[in-house]
Amino acid sequence: MEPAFWQKRWADNQIGFHQARVNPFLQKYWPHLQLAPGSRVLVPLCGKSLDLAWLAAQGHRVLGVELSRQAVEAFFREHGLEPRVAQQGAFEVWRSGDVELWCGDFFALRAEDVADCVALYDRAALIALPPEMRAHYMRLLSQALPAGAGLLLTLDYPQALLAGPPFSVADDEVRRGFAGWQVEALDEQEVIGESPKFLEAGVKSLIERVYRVKF
Ligand SMILES: C[S@@+](CC[C@H](N)C(=O)[O-])C[C@H]1O[C@@H](n2cnc3c(N)ncnc32)[C@H](O)[C@@H]1O
Repeated sequence: MEPAFWQKRWADNQIGFHQARVNPFLQKYWPHLQLAPGSRVLVPLCGKSLDLAWLAAQGHRVLGVELSRQAVEAFFREHGLEPRVAQQGAFEVWRSGDVELWCGDFFALRAEDVADCVALYDRAALIALPPEMRAHYMRLLSQALPAGAGLLLTLDYPQALLAGPPFSVADDEVRRGFAGWQVEALDEQEVIGESPKFLEAGVKSLIERVYRVKF
């Protein structure tokens, strides 16, 4: 998925992935990670997700990474915040309170940028990427993050019936991609009933899976 694809999605307001409420799996399972107050959470490909504000409200420092300036600007505006903006390497960093959104290409992130991120939250990031980019994404996280824990949400469906994004990411791909991490499936739910686009394409089963990862 080239940057232009996502920039156009934001420009055309085709952001069906954006949720109007905090993700229920995040609320249910985040406490299972037992993270220290104040710990810093990396949120790759974060969009303008309400989950960013929820994580900050739990006492975390939040580092979101997002390609679209429109998304970053909308996040702060919609929360009534006035961020400071500064250039930092390849990124334009928008900061307000405990939330920093790094506007730029996730793949330009360096290990020193996330050296104090002891937590990870991935909702609709891994599944937003085609196979080769997913492998790169998992390699980058595996190599860059220090010790910590996180939540990863995936979708699993017959990919042949529908082109991504969102892409199907099977359990074995997650385990192979994060081979050096502990990967534990905490929950999975059949969500085909809430997904008309998938039903219309003939998809009979769409599994949303929640993983706890320890790295
Ligand atoms: C499917 S959306 C999910 C957004 C968010 N995680 C959520 O739950 O609403 C994927 C997001 O990743 C962003 N994105 C795609 N490729 C990216 C990249 N290489 N670096 C940073 N952000 C990227 C897109 O602009 C888009 O906002």
